[in-house]
Amino acid sequence: MSNQKEISIRRTFAIISHPDAGKTTLTEKLLLFGGAIQVAGAVKSNKIKKHATSDFMEIERQRGISVATSVMSFQYNDTLINLLDTPGHKDFAEDTYRTLTAVDSVILVIDAVNGVEEQTRKLMEVCRMRDTPVIVFVNKMDRDGKYPFDLMDEIEKELKIHLHPLSWPINMGKEFKGVYNLYDKSLNLFTASQKQTEENTIPVLDIHAAFLDEKIGERDAQHLRDDVELLEGVYGALDVDSYLNGKVAPVFFGSAVNNFGVKELLDTFIRIAPTPLGRATDKRFVAADEEKFTGFIFKIHANLDPRHRDRIAFLRVCSGRFERNKYFHHTRLDKDVRFSNPYSFLAREKDVIDEAFPGDVVGLFDTGNFKIGDTLTEGEQLQFTGIPTFSPELFKELVNKDPMKTKQMEKGISQLTDEGVAQLFTQHGGNRKIIGCVGELQFEVIQYRLLQEYGASCNFVPLSFYKACWITGDKKKLEDFIRFKQSNIMKDKDGNLVYLAQSEWFLNTERQNNPDIEFHFTSEFKTIASSN
Ligand code: G4P
Repeated sequence: MSNQKEISIRRTFAIISHPDAGKTTLTEKLLLFGGAIQVAGAVKSNKIKKHATSDFMEIERQRGISVATSVMSFQYNDTLINLLDTPGHKDFAEDTYRTLTAVDSVILVIDAVNGVEEQTRKLMEVCRMRDTPVIVFVNKMDRDGKYPFDLMDEIEKELKIHLHPLSWPINMGKEFKGVYNLYDKSLNLFTASQKQTEENTIPVLDIHAAFLDEKIGERDAQHLRDDVELLEGVYGALDVDSYLNGKVAPVFFGSAVNNFGVKELLDTFIRIAPTPLGRATDKRFVAADEEKFTGFIFKIHANLDPRHRDRIAFLRVCSGRFERNKYFHHTRLDKDVRFSNPYSFLAREKDVIDEAFPGDVVGLFDTGNFKIGDTLTEGEQLQFTGIPTFSPELFKELVNKDPMKTKQMEKGISQLTDEGVAQLFTQHGGNRKIIGCVGELQFEVIQYRLLQEYGASCNFVPLSFYKACWITGDKKKLEDFIRFKQSNIMKDKDGNLVYLAQSEWFLNTERQNNPDIEFHFTSEFKTIASSN
């Protein structure tokens, strides 16, 4: 029995943005449309405070609460939407990158005032690696932002993606009057702080008709006509396939806090966004409509409370049907496992579920069996690919303060790094341990958790490395390189060779001097089986 019907009604996506662009606000408005929450503020209260950089306990506490909002499933019209939350805090960027492997498309929020920002660039790079379809929402049009044509230019250049506006703003800031929908050919008039309704939408049969002057004034009407003429000439109709291939991103303008432009974004999203897609594995491409179940773990959330040591592993269903109490094959451990209490995530509560379909995310209680990227199947021995680890940005040596607790330390650091809190590198031919993280916060989290959960105390000694690169190549050349660069050679947890470069200059020099060695910037450099 094919899952085609279940697949066709699902959309699994994430909203991404630089902090403060409006991701939380937009999420909340979408949930309100889906009836998943009744009051504004329900999501916001779970948000990790942006400036709590030194207070990681607060962040962990918030993270605890946010398990419930990690995946928000809601129904809108006949569509079942799985919205995967991504932490805004940059120290948890790695979490975000991994979550992006479990979605089929994204909505990218850009602040009209600030334009493209640092995190926007990084997130977009990750999307580009997988050709993830992107819809852009330019937010905060109620503020005086960048001129729309300039902003479009900036986004295209900085994010290296072609844009295709589907709506176009009429002024901005105090003068903001609304948007013209280029797709439906209709006018949406802006009213601050009001729920956007169908009545605010006026069909525009002829953009030259006099009623437009009445609605938005002669000057703005003329301006809009000129813009629309230009836009239609340049862009024409949206080529949905180019969007689905990740080559062209449709753009909407609006104001999330005023719930303006959100409904048309959502309506278009459910119309054009991809249904759950298949995924590549190390053996073959698995299509979503295959009969047999497959899925992979993209996130593991640990409970910080030592009285509740359970972890929740997040499984994305890729094909077939996930069923409660049925045995599935854990391909890395080569053993069969089953789950009696798998749960689905609704906006605020978790429900035990009996079955799940492609695109769905299931929460599995885990006692240490899973690590990120693990694959479950109905027996076939395969491993999903495309869940890479990126080079960390900060490196510190882990120093055990209590030799009596060496075992606990080893176990603790191994489990924490399985969760993806940080990366562990061990000196090649030695036992020196180097921890690589994206942000300072993770070091504090590790130190705290090693002590609380494993009774092991440690210190961190900062190291001035610039990047970790996985190295492969000719055996003899690699051996020479390792001998020559001994103090910079590590192994990752899977035994892959890693070169730690002191600086960009060193890295470039080594690459030039060693043309037979390949330097990889993500851990995933093995051959990937693809659909074609
Ligand atoms: P984030 O999740 O991307 O970090 O952003 P978030 O939604 O928290 O929004 C960041 C700030 O921007 C919030 O203000 C929010 O109210 C505001 N904001 C969101 N959308 C719009 C918009 O369309 N127009 C304007 N003018 N502001 C918008 P804050 O002061 O940080 O928080 P709050 O006190 O308002 O909750």
